[in-house]
Amino acid sequence: MSDRKISICQGDALELFKTLNDSSVDLIIADPPYNLGKDYGNDSDSKDFDDYLDFSRAWLKEAHRALKPTGSIYIFMGVRYISYLYAILERELGMSFNAWITWYYTQGIGKTKGFSPRHDDILFFNKGKKFKFNLDPIRVPQKFYRQRNNMRGANPGDVWEFSHVHYCQDNRLNHPTQKPEGLIERMVLASSDDGDLVVDPFSGSGTTLRVCQQLGRNGVGFELNPDYVQMTQYRLSLPFSGFDGVDARMERVPNDMNDPEMRKEYFRNHIQWFLKNHPDSIAEFKRQVKEKYGDDILAESDPVGQLDLL
Ligand SMILES: C[S@@+](CC[C@H](N)C(=O)[O-])C[C@H]1O[C@@H](n2cnc3c(N)ncnc32)[C@H](O)[C@@H]1O
Repeated sequence: MSDRKISICQGDALELFKTLNDSSVDLIIADPPYNLGKDYGNDSDSKDFDDYLDFSRAWLKEAHRALKPTGSIYIFMGVRYISYLYAILERELGMSFNAWITWYYTQGIGKTKGFSPRHDDILFFNKGKKFKFNLDPIRVPQKFYRQRNNMRGANPGDVWEFSHVHYCQDNRLNHPTQKPEGLIERMVLASSDDGDLVVDPFSGSGTTLRVCQQLGRNGVGFELNPDYVQMTQYRLSLPFSGFDGVDARMERVPNDMNDPEMRKEYFRNHIQWFLKNHPDSIAEFKRQVKEKYGDDILAESDPVGQLDLL
């Protein structure tokens, strides 16, 4: 992993995109200001409606130019502007729609007149018809193992449940819209490979870069606020103790894994693709394996004791 490069650049994404060559980026993960008046230490989140659309159009055009023909983009967006962004991506840039993902974050502000918001949306578009998508590393364990489910489990679907990073969590930084690493991990695993280039044009506290650093991707982040750039540099220097944020389904151990060879393969993949980066989930995994398959199975399936080393 040591030859991978992670860099964070301070400045305006619109200008910094110009430093990227045409068709050079494998994956873009963009979490722009939603134009809701949040305080990012600048006035980037308080534009007029049309100015915001012009800004969105301009950076999306740059993103499209920089993506490889096989590249993909994920864009976080609130309800007010998402349909406009969809139209720009599909109608103006000719990109291919893949999924409209709902991020269900379970808790948040409470409204007294109306329904409290509990989700954000994420648009997933591919630049062309041929694109990278690695399903196996992001499959979610099912309640009952079935051979035809291919080693690991089900497609995670387009409703993703991850809690916000809470203020009491060690990983929480002083940024108003820090995203859970587990959520970004799923995008990076699905839509890039080891050594690929991932760009986050609105890097904030550096969540995408932290995930790329741990998953062996090259990462480039752009961020307007110099304090957040410093925050990211600090974050990237910390020892790794696991990603924050977990989809609770990942902590399931399926029933009916009766064939020892298949079980071994399942455990090997689960360690490699999930537990390695989520050490907080290991104790629960061991507990369920013991309960469902007995004491000896873990030693048999993890002969070198990799789980104890994580
Ligand atoms: C929604 S936040 C991103 C949060 C990030 N995903 C995280 O997990 O911390 C958007 C960020 O974009 C930055 N920003 C706003 N306008 C920008 C621009 N034109 N170029 C670069 N960064 C910008 C803001 O300062 C803010 O930190």
